[in-house]
Amino acid sequence: MTTTLVLGGTGKSGRRIAARLGHIARLGSRRGAPPFDWDDPATWPAALDGVSAVYISYYPDVSFPGAAEQVGAVARTAVTHGAQRLVLLSGRGEPDAEPAEDAVRAAGVDWTILRCSWFMQNFSEHFLLQPVLDGVIALPAADVAEPFLDVDDLADVAAAALTRPGHAGRTYELTGPRLITFADAAAELSRATGREIRYQRLTSEQYATAAADAGLPAEEIEPLTELFTRVLDGHNAHLTEDVARVLDRPARDFADYARDAAATGVWAR
Ligand SMILES: NC(=O)c1ccc[n+]([C@@H]2O[C@H](COP(=O)([O-])OP(=O)(O)OC[C@H]3O[C@@H](n4cnc5c(N)ncnc54)[C@H](OP(=O)(O)O)[C@@H]3O)[C@@H](O)[C@H]2O)c1
Repeated sequence: MTTTLVLGGTGKSGRRIAARLGHIARLGSRRGAPPFDWDDPATWPAALDGVSAVYISYYPDVSFPGAAEQVGAVARTAVTHGAQRLVLLSGRGEPDAEPAEDAVRAAGVDWTILRCSWFMQNFSEHFLLQPVLDGVIALPAADVAEPFLDVDDLADVAAAALTRPGHAGRTYELTGPRLITFADAAAELSRATGREIRYQRLTSEQYATAAADAGLPAEEIEPLTELFTRVLDGHNAHLTEDVARVLDRPARDFADYARDAAATGVWAR
């Protein structure tokens, strides 16, 4: 049987993919055994030993400076350790993520790129959880629509790309089935939680100040603020059929995500 290293294996997409792969998955993170640390190349050979495939979820963000170099170095190390298949989690409509994609394509083995829209789970498992609990989602996003993606759909697509034939050399653009604005998302979350949650549009400067006040590390504030401004300007406001094409079923809707996440109690006061 083949072993698949799932980087970000304790994160939003990685833990779902590891669950789908079962015993063939090896968790790749600082909490893995052996541990994998992006910032400590000495940890890479043991984590990659004997793997035939790698799911690459870079942290903190595949479009940040330095990501392509680290992703490329891990991809090349994976190949020297015998990996024959690489699947990269990338960002949709993000030119700054393309060098990392190219680094994976250049590694010399089968590759699949998953360009993903914003995750729905950012509202329940990531940096938008506290704003939802507080009732105000404040971001520097224009009033544009985004086709939010359910991470469970990403995990199903990634598991297919890692284990089944027919996905090598493909660059998929993964979106949800519906375009919604952050104000629409707040309305869906209000319905699902039974509490009022509203969206407040900030300027980039206001967001950077709020992020600093909230304790976000200084080196992450500028690229993150820039990312919001660049990605959420409307150029991604169109849907694709790639989830349905790969999975032979429709992508999950935001309302279904919100209902199921609310039922877990994650937004309970
Ligand atoms: N969030 C979105 O909406 C979205 C959309 C499109 C693309 N993406 C891309 O998805 C990728 C992952 O982002 P995410 O928000 O989904 O994060 P995430 O995977 O939910 O969480 C972070 C993961 O990275 C691991 N990690 C953190 N620091 C690490 C380090 N130094 N070395 C090794 N592992 C480390 C964590 O494990 P340990 O703490 O156990 O080490 C955890 O498994 C990014 O490249 C981002 O660009 C995100």
